Amino acid sequence: MSEIVVDNLTHTFGKGSASPLTVLDGINLKLESGSFNAIVGTSGCGKSTLLKMMAGLFDPSDGQMTLDGEVIQGTDRRRGMVFQQDAVFPWMTVARNVSYGPRLRGASRAEQAEIEEKWIRMVGLTGFEDRWPRELSGGMRKRVDIGRVYANDPDVLLMDEPFGALDAQTKERMQSDLLETWSATRKTVVFVTHDLEEAIFLADKIIVMSARPGRVHHIEEVSLPRPRTNDMRLTDDFLAIKRRLWAMLEH
Ligand SMILES: Nc1ncnc2c1ncn2[C@@H]1O[C@H](COP(=O)(O)OP(=O)(O)O)[C@@H](O)[C@H]1O
Ligand SMILES: [Mg+2]
Repeated sequence: MSEIVVDNLTHTFGKGSASPLTVLDGINLKLESGSFNAIVGTSGCGKSTLLKMMAGLFDPSDGQMTLDGEVIQGTDRRRGMVFQQDAVFPWMTVARNVSYGPRLRGASRAEQAEIEEKWIRMVGLTGFEDRWPRELSGGMRKRVDIGRVYANDPDVLLMDEPFGALDAQTKERMQSDLLETWSATRKTVVFVTHDLEEAIFLADKIIVMSARPGRVHHIEEVSLPRPRTNDMRLTDDFLAIKRRLWAMLEH
């Protein structure tokens, strides 16, 4: 189980200062255990703020979030986050990056090796174990990032525009591979993007936010069958959703 409930959450930066900025206002959400959720909305509507609060990086000014009924407070390895920028350690090989979390918690050499083998394979980096991050492409570094978060075995995967900096082809491959890993593990995913096609391709549920202060404007249930395949991107159903969401974001 790993259900996230956001309950009447509001966030104001600089509360009590001369220029407070309310970025999120009255957010209510229920993200089912094992589901893939996308959050879309124009730049500045509070997507990253919401995700960082789910990670426990800071507290909301009002309301709360719970994971399986427990109020989210502070970071915890049950909630893993992948940021847009690489967070790989340049001084560690691919394998050492991936097993970083378990090593920190005192995993034995044998456990580390097992985790490295499993997650390097899952993110498609077999053969690159001993490479250094500087020898990898942007997409491959992102794979290391994802493998490292998965190696901590979180219940919830929080992803903030992780593929935003990748070229279109690499991005499509990363999306398909992410779905494959997700189906194999069924973590609850919250994936922030401003790319509607990406959101539709990946998610069960798309949360469309309105511009500042961010509110939940619409929730789109995506009923496209799984496994999702690239040819679905051009189907009428897919494009109809895209048109509908596009029109919403225009306002
Ligand atoms: N730590 C902070 N202090 C003050 N304002 C912030 C802080 N973080 C973000 N903001 C502001 O909050 C708004 C929402 O930011 P953000 O959550 O990053 O939006 P998004 O990810 O949707 O583009 C922006 O106007 C941003 O400038
Ligand atoms: Mg952001």
